Amino acid sequence: MNELPVGLFDSGVGGLTVLRAMRACMPGESFLYLGDTARLPYGTKSRDTIARYSLQVTARLVERKIKLLVVACNTATAAALPALRRAYPEIPVIGVVEPGAKAACAASREGFIAVIGTESTIRGRAYDEAILKLRPDARVIGLPCPLFVPLAEDGLVEGPLAEGIAARYLDRVFRVPRERGENIPDCLVLGCTHFPLLADAITHVAGPGVTLVDSAATTARAVKSTLEEHGLRSAAETGESFFLTTDDAERFARMGERFLGFPVPESRVELVDL
Ligand code: DGL
Repeated sequence: MNELPVGLFDSGVGGLTVLRAMRACMPGESFLYLGDTARLPYGTKSRDTIARYSLQVTARLVERKIKLLVVACNTATAAALPALRRAYPEIPVIGVVEPGAKAACAASREGFIAVIGTESTIRGRAYDEAILKLRPDARVIGLPCPLFVPLAEDGLVEGPLAEGIAARYLDRVFRVPRERGENIPDCLVLGCTHFPLLADAITHVAGPGVTLVDSAATTARAVKSTLEEHGLRSAAETGESFFLTTDDAERFARMGERFLGFPVPESRVELVDL
């Protein structure tokens, strides 16, 4: 038994989609979330910068005492997971790419899988590797969709603007080949924790018969079983969530509600400097 919180971080509020799934799966656990909103986006930055930011954020969470770390950001997982595990061998560190790849392999009938994410995640091909390890016969297409991040952060997640940008990114892999009678992917991985908010606009553009998957539920299950393996589950019936942000606590609380699905009291959001 261990009553310390599970720590998790993202560049902004996107990782709250993972927190939402973890709270549903483990209501007795407490969580400490850090959103590095002052330095968002991570996805357009170099791998070295993303790894440095991830190590700084993790140091702050570890200083506050956490029993397990979830890297609730695909970009940070792809760029920094091994470095984080090396830096903190005493705590289990779980990323979102492997769980996302697992969900995709389970959901895809044909093994033709599209992955959307930030520039850095797609360029690093982390999903391609993770999917091919599980399903060597798969065909994977990666599409960077960087503008989805500010759209989600600003709550511009539906309507003509979101759909227009989605069409610009996705048409060449879905609408165009479909109109030509060519094969299209049957599964689309939301390889960025901001993207589940845009699911309706993305589905509208990808069209029928394409299954959208994200890492949130599979990551939550991986965290639960890791806590169990290490004897780290909380005995509490209901846990609490606390939030740290590197910029504007009021905005974090307001935007966070969209991602979490319930109010984030501003009194629970602390401004920190890294
Ligand atoms: N939410 C982050 C992810 O899952 C990326 C957002 C960003 O570019 O900062 O990749």
